[in-house]
Amino acid sequence: MTKVLVLNGPNLGRLGRRQPEIYGHTTHAELAHQCVEWGAGLGLEVEVRQTNHEGELLDWLNTAADDGTPVVLNAAAWTHYSLGLWDACAQLTAPLVEVHISDPKQRAEEFRHTSVVEPHAAATIAGQGIDGYRQALELLASR
Ligand code: DQA
Repeated sequence: MTKVLVLNGPNLGRLGRRQPEIYGHTTHAELAHQCVEWGAGLGLEVEVRQTNHEGELLDWLNTAADDGTPVVLNAAAWTHYSLGLWDACAQLTAPLVEVHISDPKQRAEEFRHTSVVEPHAAATIAGQGIDGYRQALELLASR
């Protein structure tokens, strides 16, 4: 089975409690469970991680680069300003799919309108809610 990492950045551990009108009612634990199930159905071994610590995400991405592991990444707010994240994504050796639950480019805050991940991603899926993760896994499984 192909291993895939689903990596979630800051504040996504609060899914279900965090602005549900924007991010929905699914908790991070439920999302993680769903991703593992969706992956299994697609022949993927999915591992889901979430961190509020940028260096930890960079370490995970560096290891994924060394191991050639495909990544589904919702870097949350770091998406919009982290140059360290830009550099880590540039090093990835297997496909990267960027996911956002909301569609940052349609939101009012201008800082959300750019992404350091997008230039390195095979695709960006935004505004599809939690289903965006399923679509990202489907995309990776089809490659
Ligand atoms: C997000 C969108 C980002 O702009 C925001 O900072 C997040 C979540 C999303 O999934 O819609 O934390 O990545």
